[in-house]
Amino acid sequence: MPIGSPQTPPEWDAYYHLRYTVLRQPWQQPPGSERAPDDAAPTTTHALLLAPEGYALGVGRLHPSGPGQGQLRFMAVHPAWQGRGVGRQVLEYLEAAAWQQGLTELLLHARQAAVPFYARLGYTVVAPSHTLFGSIPHFLMRKELT
Ligand SMILES: CC(C)(COP(=O)(O)OP(=O)(O)OC[C@H]1O[C@@H](n2cnc3c(N)ncnc32)[C@H](O)[C@@H]1OP(=O)(O)O)[C@@H](O)C(=O)NCCC(=O)NCCS
Repeated sequence: MPIGSPQTPPEWDAYYHLRYTVLRQPWQQPPGSERAPDDAAPTTTHALLLAPEGYALGVGRLHPSGPGQGQLRFMAVHPAWQGRGVGRQVLEYLEAAAWQQGLTELLLHARQAAVPFYARLGYTVVAPSHTLFGSIPHFLMRKELT
């Protein structure tokens, strides 16, 4: 299955639906809270891995955050597909996009439960960061691209 930016309205719907159901709905956040103002920026790169049935298996996004530096956000894998390599595929796609854009350092704020995933993919914890929805500790992680 190819991975890339959503192109059609149904693909954008699938993209945001997965973001919402994995990253917002479990914490009773309202619909719309899964969207960010800079989603539409031309410098933001979106990754969507679609199932043949048309729903999203995995999503994530990248935006430039400083000289040579990018930030990854909104990584989510469909619950039935977690632990089967989808997250790796999304992350590696965004890393390749970052490299092509001349970025050499990636940062992200990882939920505590996702820290081992990012560590497996070469990211190291820099420092604890914010707590989301009053209950999800995050950790700032970084990786140098080579
Ligand atoms: C975190 C998340 C994106 C990871 O995606 P995934 O598809 O489940 O992960 P993958 O199957 O691609 O795992 C890639 C590697 O990381 C390892 N890994 C993943 N989760 C791990 C964990 N909790 N502990 C240890 N290793 C882990 C896998 O074993 C795999 O290693 P391998 O390639 O050597 O076999 C996904 O589980 C998810 O959406 N979780 C809920 C939402 C979330 O927390 N998003 C991140 C917000 S910061």
